[in-house]
Amino acid sequence: MLPSLWHLSTYLLRVKKVFSKSVRHTRAFAKELANKLEPHKKQAVIIGLQGHLGAGKTTFIKAFARAFGYKGRVTSPTFLILRSFRLPKSAVFGKLIHIDAYRVDAAELKQLGFTDIIKNPKNILVVEWADRVKKIMPRGTAWIKIEHGEKQHERIIHHRR
Ligand SMILES: Nc1ncnc2c1ncn2[C@@H]1O[C@H](COP(=O)(O)OP(=O)(O)OP(=O)(O)O)[C@@H](O)[C@H]1O
Ligand SMILES: [Mg+2]
Repeated sequence: MLPSLWHLSTYLLRVKKVFSKSVRHTRAFAKELANKLEPHKKQAVIIGLQGHLGAGKTTFIKAFARAFGYKGRVTSPTFLILRSFRLPKSAVFGKLIHIDAYRVDAAELKQLGFTDIIKNPKNILVVEWADRVKKIMPRGTAWIKIEHGEKQHERIIHHRR
């Protein structure tokens, strides 16, 4: 594709492609995004995170939580579907909520209070494997997909708003 067409299509679709060469780059991307996010008026800020095993989803979430000033341990939920991190008063959000949708469906997430979580503008919600529960992901979800690159430490991060 011609560069101008590429720029036009990324502009229209609001897709950003970030090339990550290392864990450090992926962390920097997470931090930069976290610093840019502002609460919405009527609903939570929601991120749908996609990526295969070892893509860097947990790496992203750890750096993301740190950027909001969360000091505790950030482990990925693996056996927990939902984890909630209370953020310090200095943060613009009250809670960072991390859902792993790998083993659940939309109905189960609703039973866990998904609807209330997304209604609360104080929440920032990251849903891993969000593509599996796409039908309940609200309009306005920011989609982030991490893909493996050609080399071992390369990743391509697609960001769609
Ligand atoms: N550019 C990069 N960005 C992120 N992680 C990278 C990068 N290069 C190498 N890695 C490595 O890839 C691995 C990513 O692991 P991580 O646990 O974050 O992935 P994940 O997507 O959560 O996987 P899983 O689905 O198994 O939970 C780490 O070992 C990390 O060091
Ligand atoms: Mg993980």
